[in-house]
Amino acid sequence: MKPFAAFLGATLIAGNALAGNQFDINVGKPGADISPTMYGLFFEDINYGADGGLYAEMIKNRSFEFPDRLMGWRSFGNIEVRDTDGPFDRNPHYVRLSDPGHGEKRTGLDNEGFFGVSFKADSVYRLSVWSRTASDAPSRIKVELIEPDADGESQVCADVKIDVKGFEWKRYTAELRPDRTVAKGRLRIFLDSPAAVDLEHVSLLPADTWKGREGGLRRDLVQRLADIHPGVFRFPGGCIVEGTELPDRYQWKNTVGPVENRPLNLNRWHYTFPHRFFPDYFQTYGLGFYEYFLLSEEIGAAPLPVLNVGLVCQYQNHDPKAHVPADSLDEYIRDAIDLVEFANGDTTTTWGALRAQMGHPAPFGLKYMAIGNEQWGPEYVERLKPFVEAMRRECPEIEIIGSSGPDSEGDKFDYLWPEMKRLDVDLVDEHFYRPNDWFLSQGMRYDGYSRKGPKVFAGEYACHTPGYKRNNYGAAICEAAFMTGLERNADVVRMATYAPLFAHVEGWQWRPDMIWFDNFESVPTSSYFVQQMYATNKGTRVLPLTMDGKPVAGQEGQNGLFATAALDEDNGTTIVKVVNTGDTPQSVDLVFKGLKKNRRYTSCKVVTLSSDNLRGDNTLQAPDAVRPVESAIDIDGTSFTTEIASQTFKVFILK
Ligand code: AHR
Repeated sequence: MKPFAAFLGATLIAGNALAGNQFDINVGKPGADISPTMYGLFFEDINYGADGGLYAEMIKNRSFEFPDRLMGWRSFGNIEVRDTDGPFDRNPHYVRLSDPGHGEKRTGLDNEGFFGVSFKADSVYRLSVWSRTASDAPSRIKVELIEPDADGESQVCADVKIDVKGFEWKRYTAELRPDRTVAKGRLRIFLDSPAAVDLEHVSLLPADTWKGREGGLRRDLVQRLADIHPGVFRFPGGCIVEGTELPDRYQWKNTVGPVENRPLNLNRWHYTFPHRFFPDYFQTYGLGFYEYFLLSEEIGAAPLPVLNVGLVCQYQNHDPKAHVPADSLDEYIRDAIDLVEFANGDTTTTWGALRAQMGHPAPFGLKYMAIGNEQWGPEYVERLKPFVEAMRRECPEIEIIGSSGPDSEGDKFDYLWPEMKRLDVDLVDEHFYRPNDWFLSQGMRYDGYSRKGPKVFAGEYACHTPGYKRNNYGAAICEAAFMTGLERNADVVRMATYAPLFAHVEGWQWRPDMIWFDNFESVPTSSYFVQQMYATNKGTRVLPLTMDGKPVAGQEGQNGLFATAALDEDNGTTIVKVVNTGDTPQSVDLVFKGLKKNRRYTSCKVVTLSSDNLRGDNTLQAPDAVRPVESAIDIDGTSFTTEIASQTFKVFILK
């Protein structure tokens, strides 16, 4: 066979050599549909992903509800924490600032933020505080953004005075525009009058949030998510769904309605790893279920909530009595049914009306719900069963996702899969945080799965390099290789989400993660780019791609190559993804068969992810170490030869 193409670009070999690896791609025989939900995102409030991360609130313990009521605050002068007749019944604590007793002394408090109150020169920050006078006399506070370590004369970078009038609680707002950029700043409040004042829910957010929304999300971080073009967005976790004890479980009903009255909850990542202990990590639910649905919609992803099944975390709590008895799940099942009403219900329904009141009268179009996170054993199955029965009856439009447990294989997995089939769930959530060689050995994982049973949601996965549990390019290449098998088996695998998503550089508990950030910047990792290259070049139908009649999945004699092909019926393109996981460059002949008579390819875009440093990755200090690079090829024909450098992932998009 002769190659027809004339190639441009350094990685392509023009000429006749067809030595090595010939991939036959049958364009005339499109196979399974690739689900629009195929490549998505998994979000959990771990690593300060929500509070201190995506949720743009800058004040820690803004409602004085942390068990240590003044955690995150430094108080001075005459301060009292009170809990009688506050404005919010589910967050009852507030502070009273009273006269310090001498004209030269001060009363007030200042907040440390999340790893600092970080602000930029000339940007606008919106302050809000609920307040009332503590007596008949009017009072005043002075609020400042300060630079504690200022070298110059004054720590003050911005200030504003707020007059508080009346004994009724009211929300006061102001804007602060700092004169300098400070990473480790604080918000300071002085009592600025002899008369005492009460303060509650002290909040500060940048004006420049995602879509400029007041009380919103960090624009830069949401943009990272949108840039992936995710098909599905799973929330709110993860283990935080479960709770160490039942009262700590994630309860979506506590996360909707006015933010001021969303009750504080523990965050298990506060204490899960004592060697990375964060005693000030809690969930305020400023980013709650309404915001998750809205975010899903705005980044174009199908929302996928995960609900508690009546089990606490089976890793953390071994007391069988800590779970809800299997015959007492009514409240939990009600939560699931009500959530469908919240997302999809008419605005005349109780929960649909709340959605409308919060700003979204149109339904969110919820189609999927996972019941239970990473649960296992008969205790899971006996609880999931009544959920499935009730959901089928009350919400037949919802596809139910069950769990295959925490392991990629083994006893728990082998027990649960047949049980999930028996319960007839729609998808089964598989989790695998596994080493490089595991990923490279799983290229054919889904080729052997039954085509009749539930579909697969690869709901949490990441390559964890042994002895080097941090982001690295080598791990990302293993993920890219493994994902060829997800796509080739798109009739079985309907969704896949890497995990975890976010990590604050000063507050992480778990790594690797997809996106790292500090209070100002963020950096996508190599794993991020792998996800993005798949999600933005997904295609709509799988095309058969073989080498010597076999799928290219790192099998014996395949020289470390993995590949998959797809047709994109929307754009009229053919997409081929090739990963070379070996240590030597590979010459690959892409031979397209089954094209209609006289049809040929006339253009080809190539996206390449490559790096010489398998252990390296992007960091905030060196954000551009690994980036996908685009090039174009002149082509006129139905085959071409190309070279894939070692440890390289390439996507070819042909027209
Ligand atoms: O992604 C981190 C954790 O890993 C999730 O919370 C949990 O589901 C899994 O064990």
